[in-house]
Amino acid sequence: MLKGKKILLGVTGSIAAYKSAFLTRLLIQSGAEVKVVMSPGALEFVTPLTFSTLSKNPVFSDFTQNKDSGEWNHHVDLALWADLMVLAPLSADTLSKMASAQCDNFLMAVYMSAKCPVMVAPAMDRDMFLHPGTLENLRKIRSFGHIILSPQEGELASGLSGKGRMEEPEEIFAAVVNFFHPVLPLKGKKALVTAGPTFEKIDPVRFIGNFSSGKMGFALALELANKGADVTLVAGLVKETISHPMVKLKKVMSADEMFEVCKTEFDHSDITIMAAAVADYKPASIAPEKVKKKEELWSLPMVKTVDIASSLGAMKRQDQILIGFALETEDELKNAEKKLEKKNLDFIVLNSLKDEGAGFGTDTNKITLIWPGNKSKEFGLKAKSKVAEDIVQEICQLIEK
Ligand code: CTP
Repeated sequence: MLKGKKILLGVTGSIAAYKSAFLTRLLIQSGAEVKVVMSPGALEFVTPLTFSTLSKNPVFSDFTQNKDSGEWNHHVDLALWADLMVLAPLSADTLSKMASAQCDNFLMAVYMSAKCPVMVAPAMDRDMFLHPGTLENLRKIRSFGHIILSPQEGELASGLSGKGRMEEPEEIFAAVVNFFHPVLPLKGKKALVTAGPTFEKIDPVRFIGNFSSGKMGFALALELANKGADVTLVAGLVKETISHPMVKLKKVMSADEMFEVCKTEFDHSDITIMAAAVADYKPASIAPEKVKKKEELWSLPMVKTVDIASSLGAMKRQDQILIGFALETEDELKNAEKKLEKKNLDFIVLNSLKDEGAGFGTDTNKITLIWPGNKSKEFGLKAKSKVAEDIVQEICQLIEK
């Protein structure tokens, strides 16, 4: 699981230091390369020999290896070698040094030179942990972007009981694995998203279209891919671009073309989101030549386009999720509920054009999600990327059920 990963393990002065020996073994067993740096305090609890034997690497605790020859340990090289630095156990003292960038020992010099992410597992007595200074220092290092594995409640070395026990080695190991291989909730799922307008041809130079920018559908495709899904994005002609290894973009022009792609993709799609603004009507026939200007009043015979969402809704299996959008200007809730039912959707995303910043062209949106059975949830005005996160979050919850 951790083959080829380089982990720098910082061990500081706490009785929990003996547990870091188990952590070292777990990391080594899963293929990681481990180098251990000990603070002067840690040397009082465990010997370097324990860690050098388990890690199969020399252990570092001082700036010099041999004071007589002046041979020294290069803290910068060590820091830059690592993919991840884990400080476990992290004592109150080293935590305070980290928060104030105090560099008075070799471990701190390595820590301050490290460019890789840092994970810490604090360990200290209950009242030391609850001291406002400790809590402030934790807040501070959290603001540096460090990952903090909160100490656990339990019996402490002092005989007191409470929060302060270092997280168990198995849990720290799991956090390290999750850091390198985050569990993506939609991994292995296939998703289909429609986006943008459809253009319905009148003649070789004209079409009937709409103002949809495709931004919402593109944001959804990106968010699904970021959560691990394999996404096919079927988009009408839009300016938006997308670059993600898990998103396959298929450009179409008309409702018929969009339907053809959706029909073939839908069967193997676990999640389908219909965010496209599909034309409801198309010219009854496409003129082969440019239509010439003649009468004052020109009427064009139109026929209904295929309702893609309804057609997919009719084909939908129990294990598939189908989500639609409803863009309304009046009787919003009632109209959206009708579409939810008619199109056999799992939920519908309602945008009201009455809400400022919602709908076509904007970078923001304001949505209400509606489920069968009159359940609904309103969201505030947000960037479309954030709206996509909210929608995908709901999809993840549907999948978990
Ligand atoms: N939709 C579709 N195919 C169509 C029309 C709509 O797939 N021909 C999808 C849209 O992508 C959206 C949902 O159906 O997810 C509702 O679209 P909307 O335009 O709001 O509703 P319509 O069914 O077209 O009804 P109306 O235009 O009368 O409000």
